[in-house]
Amino acid sequence: MSQLVWDPEWETGYPAIDEQHRRLISEFNDFLDAVNRDFHAAHVANLIEFLLDFLDEHCEEEEFRMRATNYPRLAEHMAFHEHLRSTAKALANTSNKDHEVFTEEVTAFVLDWIERHVKVEDNLMAKHLIQHSKKESKSKLEARP
Ligand SMILES: [Fe+2]
Ligand SMILES: [Fe+2]
Repeated sequence: MSQLVWDPEWETGYPAIDEQHRRLISEFNDFLDAVNRDFHAAHVANLIEFLLDFLDEHCEEEEFRMRATNYPRLAEHMAFHEHLRSTAKALANTSNKDHEVFTEEVTAFVLDWIERHVKVEDNLMAKHLIQHSKKESKSKLEARP
């Protein structure tokens, strides 16, 4: 299985969020690297633990930012996060299958997450967050005596 190469199209333009997405890809590549070298069930267990924790923390952080800025698509975005979390949990429950099949499935999950969620929903959210922080700094400047 070949490594995932960061595509500039995956960039949302909001640095704090992009940094986390990059971390997802880099941790995932470490997993591919490890299973390609030699397979240990521990690699799969580590990846599952990382993915579930990452999803919790990352989704919560995005949701916090969306709530704090009254993002109008919050409900839709949260529904996508819920779907990602339940898919990851379902994958975790089948992690004891043939490791090549598992690796393919988990790769498809990560790519789907990036292509269908990051490139679409996270992008819209990032545009809103950037817009919001521009407005904030403009009103702070205007409020100066
Ligand atoms: Fe995200
Ligand atoms: Fe998201």
